[in-house]
Amino acid sequence: MRILLFTGKGGVGKTTVAAATAVRAAAAGQRTLIMSTDPAHSLADSFDLPLTAHAQEISKNLWAEQIDAQERLEANWRDIQEFVISFLNWAGVDAVEAEELSVIPGLDEIFSLTDVKYHVDSGKYDLLVVDCAPTAETLRLLSLPEVMNWYIERIFPVERRVVKTIRPLLSKLTTMPIADDRIFAAVERLHRNLDGVRHLLTNERMSSVRLVVNPEKMVIAEARRTYTYLSLFGYRVDAVVVNRIIPDEVDDPYFGKWKDIQAQHLATVRESFEPVPILTARLFDREMVGLELLAEMGDEVYGTQDATAILYVDEPLRVRKRGTSYMLLLRLPFVEKKDLDVYRKADELYVRVGTYKRNLILPQTLQRLEVKEANFVDDRLEVRFGKDSPSPARATAGRGR
Ligand SMILES: Nc1ncnc2c1ncn2[C@@H]1O[C@H](COP(=O)(O)OP(=O)(O)OP(=O)(O)O)[C@@H](O)[C@H]1O
Ligand SMILES: [Mg+2]
Repeated sequence: MRILLFTGKGGVGKTTVAAATAVRAAAAGQRTLIMSTDPAHSLADSFDLPLTAHAQEISKNLWAEQIDAQERLEANWRDIQEFVISFLNWAGVDAVEAEELSVIPGLDEIFSLTDVKYHVDSGKYDLLVVDCAPTAETLRLLSLPEVMNWYIERIFPVERRVVKTIRPLLSKLTTMPIADDRIFAAVERLHRNLDGVRHLLTNERMSSVRLVVNPEKMVIAEARRTYTYLSLFGYRVDAVVVNRIIPDEVDDPYFGKWKDIQAQHLATVRESFEPVPILTARLFDREMVGLELLAEMGDEVYGTQDATAILYVDEPLRVRKRGTSYMLLLRLPFVEKKDLDVYRKADELYVRVGTYKRNLILPQTLQRLEVKEANFVDDRLEVRFGKDSPSPARATAGRGR
């Protein structure tokens, strides 16, 4: 079973490349499902076929679905939302405002991702192709299960026990709404679903992210940021697809300059992302919609390669034994030392890159050890763990060291 996620800045050709990949894999005999977590839903336009919220076979070995994000939101969030609204009401927030505040932006998209787990569990497919929302959204979505994980594992079990014992007492003393078992159950179910998805998407034998870019300055800059954040959260990029390259046979002088600019940007992409394989697709002379043209696009991108193979083994997080110490290595490409902050608290390591923060639960072996030093070497954060001797409570890799 393989899962391929396609992401990149708006309009670069994510949906097209994702669809082309699915068409190619299906033609090679893989039972393939393509789904979109982007509420904009352009899969139907790309295939030029009507699609529904349920996976339907659109050609041999190929299924497609356009998730009804609203429906997923209702199924996962309604119970919790009701409680949040009653709580906000109690706290004096006006009813309409409470209703609006209770929907966190992006929630509908994250719930769409829970379909990944559902389809993997079904065992019906060999390949799942996910057409993701543009860069920033996807990132936020991908980090959400881990954030929730943190809250639930740390706070929830404790609070739940407390609430169980004091609920009867509290309800006598205050009119404050207290979450009942149904709400706890809904939160737990949601957490299980999201955590399951995260596990699948960070499983190195199963999931790969493919970054789609155009040979344009701003698109590449954003892809580099995306790559950093994906690494931070443990997602593995196995290829970069440079789409819309003006082909050699175009000799119109008007495009001559564009070709030079594109050649420069292509060189930047190679320098930036290698050894991650760089795949390319030319700018075709028409919109690449419908099964036939998508198949052509697939041939263009992958040539003789198997589109479903793991094209590159990226290993963002590693733990290595060095003498009596252990090194935790976290690859953070394109990060500037000044944007990085790292510190340890109990059995967690906090890594912050710009506005993104990850709290890594340390592996058992490291939990018993002390942080001895943290350095940023090339594109890696290296944290050394060792025994005995007092260690600083806070080791900072950035901040002018
Ligand atoms: N290499 C190409 N040559 C010609 N047309 C292309 C190429 N790649 C994509 N297109 C066309 O560009 C349009 C936009 O592509 P697509 O919808 O795949 O972008 P996207 O990144 O998914 O956009 P969004 O961010 O809105 O989801 C489509 O009409 C598609 O057919
Ligand atoms: Mg799209």
